[in-house]
Amino acid sequence: MTEFKAEFPKNFLWGGATAANQIEGGFNEDGKGLSAADFVAYIPKAERTKDHAMEITSEEIRNALSGESNARFPKREGNDFYHRYKEDIALLAEMGFSAFRFSIHWSRIFPNGYDEMPNEAGLQYYDNVLDELLKYNIEPIVTLSHYETPYGLTERYNGWVSREVIDHYVRYAETVFKRYKNKVKYWLSFNEINIINLSPYTGGGVLSDREENPLQASYQALHHQFVASSLATKKLHEIMPDAKMGCMLARMSHYPNTANPEDVLKAQKDNQNNLFYTDVHARGEYPKYMNRFFKENDIEIVKAVGDDEILKQYPVDFISISYYMSMLSSASPEGERTEGNLMNSLKNPYLEASDWGWQIDPIGIRIVLNDLYDRYQLPIFIVENGLGAYDQVEEDGSIHDAYRIDYLRKHIQEMKEAIGDGVELLGYTAWGPIDLVSMSTSEMSKRYGFVYVDKDDEGNGTLERKRKDSFYWYKKVIESNGEEL
Ligand code: BG6
Repeated sequence: MTEFKAEFPKNFLWGGATAANQIEGGFNEDGKGLSAADFVAYIPKAERTKDHAMEITSEEIRNALSGESNARFPKREGNDFYHRYKEDIALLAEMGFSAFRFSIHWSRIFPNGYDEMPNEAGLQYYDNVLDELLKYNIEPIVTLSHYETPYGLTERYNGWVSREVIDHYVRYAETVFKRYKNKVKYWLSFNEINIINLSPYTGGGVLSDREENPLQASYQALHHQFVASSLATKKLHEIMPDAKMGCMLARMSHYPNTANPEDVLKAQKDNQNNLFYTDVHARGEYPKYMNRFFKENDIEIVKAVGDDEILKQYPVDFISISYYMSMLSSASPEGERTEGNLMNSLKNPYLEASDWGWQIDPIGIRIVLNDLYDRYQLPIFIVENGLGAYDQVEEDGSIHDAYRIDYLRKHIQEMKEAIGDGVELLGYTAWGPIDLVSMSTSEMSKRYGFVYVDKDDEGNGTLERKRKDSFYWYKKVIESNGEEL
């Protein structure tokens, strides 16, 4: 048998990924309006009473607006990238990044979401960020909407439940496409579009307590996002024929718990429920298997005339995913469970887990990449992957994060194998290259970065940046194009 050596292609994009609401801060500066993320309070673990720290009620919004709430809202503070972007981008460049994924905070551009005219200061800010990236030859990968629906759209329409939001989104998309036309080639329409059915508020600015049938409402909101994504893709190609639009899925791959066909069937259903989103984005139509799910759950999606044609005519150019872990499916409700990205899972005895219970499965990334490529034959971009962990700063200021290096090394090795299997992989952006606020818990102590940020869960700290051991390791990985792991 001939030994086969997989390798990364020469033009492979290496970098890191972020979201505006988790890094920027400056939540009310230079004309920015409020967004969904600005209302997510930090709740210490011992005091949490609900699964989704991100799912917010109308009452919590009222309290926050009236100033009656004593809560802290860490996503208003981020890690101060808004003011430190030059220093931060210089650190990314020092690691040799060839790509950086960030989101535009929609409410910096259209403060209420429904405004007629954009906010020039917001547009200028992203011009500055883009110029700084391009100065170092770092390719920007821009997400249009990463859990940042402007609050004005929630107040007026209850977010994406209302069809009107499609037009506001497309106006926003067109505005930034025209403005950054010569600077950005890769765009993502919605971050983890599947989250809308797990947290309608996070994914779509939808307050479920304002809806009679929240499940129906979230699928309706999703339909509007699908149509909006296709219309944005249409605009993008008109304005920039060479630019590429990607969809983004939190890939939650499910293995059957046992070889019992009932478990295998359950895993198949769970996988379909996850791949449904990329099926619509890439194939341009709702898959038939969803009809049964919709019937069983009394969901009736209201489509306007022409929606099906829009989805069909303007599919995405590439698939992007976040991949942190894999899950186990069982037909039985029994068994020990563990926490996971957006949803929990049965515990897999073959896998270790992070400090937050997320099951670490590097081989899973190879399986996922092969499955996705077989299914769509479209290029794939891994736009999120990484290990959230507690870090310790030693007396001399060093941070020895061997556990993070181990996690990343194993995942990158399996990505390389997937490329060897024939998968067309465009690039890899590790999540949170500079420590940022956690999406699910709003903690700072859940750190993903190569660069440490001196800030704790209560918001104390100097914000000073410190290079971790993984910083020097990732720099070598990039320098050697993934040869030296
Ligand atoms: C993804 C999100 O689900 O996971 C990011 O797109 C998020 O916004 C990341 O930060 C990691 O999740 P968490 O909850 O550890 O921050």
